[in-house]
Amino acid sequence: MKQIKSKKRIGEYGEVFTNDREVEAMLDLVQDSFKSIDSTFLEPSIGEGNFAIKILERKISLIESKYAKKSQSYLRALIKAVASIYGIELLTDNVLVCRKRLYDYVTLYTKSKKTLNTIQMILEKNIINGNTLTMKTVNDEPITFFEWKYNKNKLIGVPQTLISMLS
Ligand SMILES: C[S@@+](CC[C@H](N)C(=O)[O-])C[C@H]1O[C@@H](n2cnc3c(N)ncnc32)[C@H](O)[C@@H]1O
Repeated sequence: MKQIKSKKRIGEYGEVFTNDREVEAMLDLVQDSFKSIDSTFLEPSIGEGNFAIKILERKISLIESKYAKKSQSYLRALIKAVASIYGIELLTDNVLVCRKRLYDYVTLYTKSKKTLNTIQMILEKNIINGNTLTMKTVNDEPITFFEWKYNKNKLIGVPQTLISMLS
């Protein structure tokens, strides 16, 4: 993957992506976070998701070691893994690439349409096209995250604005 798209984007947005080796080394510093599938990550400038994809890889390798493939617990854990990764990115093209990379990665582990539809819906909510500094989306609405929980067998998202989380 290229780390730089253009000099203009570096100048205007500071867009230089982190390479895989550096991402892995940084994630190794927080290894304990990968003992639980639910550990939450928020990347305030997620780019094309170079950190998010490696976080998802680590979460899914834990799932693979814990649950029988295709079981309800396995599918639910895949959903929880994605649901615990959040990101904000200013540039729409990066947001779309990031969501697609995460979605495509999950398709390597399940073909369940129901699960994949849920994951797609979560990615649209969790990977936000917005400005971390103003805490607003590109549509000028307050950035709002959803905390995903199962209530019996129903997945619900409890909304909370970024500004209220930080105040
Ligand atoms: C240095 S790149 C890092 C991207 C990614 N974290 C990585 O390591 O590959 C910074 C990213 O932040 C985005 N960005 C710049 N200003 C931002 C802002 N105010 N809010 C959200 N994202 C922003 C840029 O578009 C760019 O994709």
